[in-house]
Amino acid sequence: GAIDLGPYRHYMQKEIFEQPRAITDTLQGIEGFVPSLFGDKAATVFERINAIQVLACGTSYYSAMTAKYWLESIAGIPTNVEIASEYRYRTPAVNPDALVVVVSQSGETADTLAALKYAKELGHKHSLAICNVGTSAMVRETELSYLTRAGVEIGVASTKAFTTQLTALFLLTMTLAKMRGRLTPEQEHQHLKNLRHLPNALQSVLALEPNIIAWAESFARKENALFLGRGLHYPIALEGALKLKEISYIHAEAYPAGELKHGPLALVTEEMPVVTVAPNDALIEKLKSNMQEVRARGGQLYVFADSDSHLASSEGVHVIRLPEHYGELSPILHVVPLQLLAYHTALARGTDVDKPRNLAKSVTVE
Ligand code: G6P
Repeated sequence: GAIDLGPYRHYMQKEIFEQPRAITDTLQGIEGFVPSLFGDKAATVFERINAIQVLACGTSYYSAMTAKYWLESIAGIPTNVEIASEYRYRTPAVNPDALVVVVSQSGETADTLAALKYAKELGHKHSLAICNVGTSAMVRETELSYLTRAGVEIGVASTKAFTTQLTALFLLTMTLAKMRGRLTPEQEHQHLKNLRHLPNALQSVLALEPNIIAWAESFARKENALFLGRGLHYPIALEGALKLKEISYIHAEAYPAGELKHGPLALVTEEMPVVTVAPNDALIEKLKSNMQEVRARGGQLYVFADSDSHLASSEGVHVIRLPEHYGELSPILHVVPLQLLAYHTALARGTDVDKPRNLAKSVTVE
């Protein structure tokens, strides 16, 4: 290919390991959370909006789902997130003062672009693109934009585009929170510090690769997997399941852990690996009882915990600890081991990791 693989076997693996650099680049030049990051008109636009309507597809939809938790809890802005291919063919009740945000790696996905145009026709006054390609149709069609600097992404399964989208969406959250008087200068300083330390924190997560390779061996022999998460990490569980099915062809589903008892528990046997995204946050105790429900049916738990949580490996419970708990930014760290798990499982199964069957990098026709 045009881009050298260096020491990596696939573009996907290379792109997973490029994430610290991609995030550093995406944060380049940021000294504070100011509207001008999103364009000259952003200060005026952000004053006028009273809600957010996000439209996206695939992995980009999951970064948007994560951002909904941030935008509502931190910035206090009512946020809707919808799959672009659904939105474009229905009749939504439109709030013209809701900022339309399209999230897209390519900026060319046909459904997202059509949904954006439709939203404008329906009367939405303002739009913003979070995009990895500055010359794309979506950036041209929106009045505001924030460019992620992931660099060219070749692997069909998106990785560094996702974590840089999350970074950009966090910047949007912070900027809106600050404008709405919900961020003290001390908090702003602390958040900036946390963001700047993210690439280092990511390096330590990437160093867990050998532990994940050991898990991938047993995953490769399964045909089904369940992913659980709660709150901010429910979309991360969804993204983990998507990565696994895209490249290893293992059927994977994600559920918010509290919903286990309303259906998926019926699927749990000794044959079912249950991947649990378990950061040490306010929901950890609830999650532990969800995990017991799985164990009681013989399910095998594969838990991604944080260093400071009291979760230990035991029979049927495998635990990998992430080096540090990262608060609101934790989804950016917790998705990385799920990318590596999908990658190494696919590798063990011998699939075409960078070009999975039936999928395309960018879907520009309907
Ligand atoms: C395709 C790709 C996915 C991607 C989705 C949305 O399905 O295979 O990896 O998440 O399109 O693409 P976009 O460029 O709009 O983010």
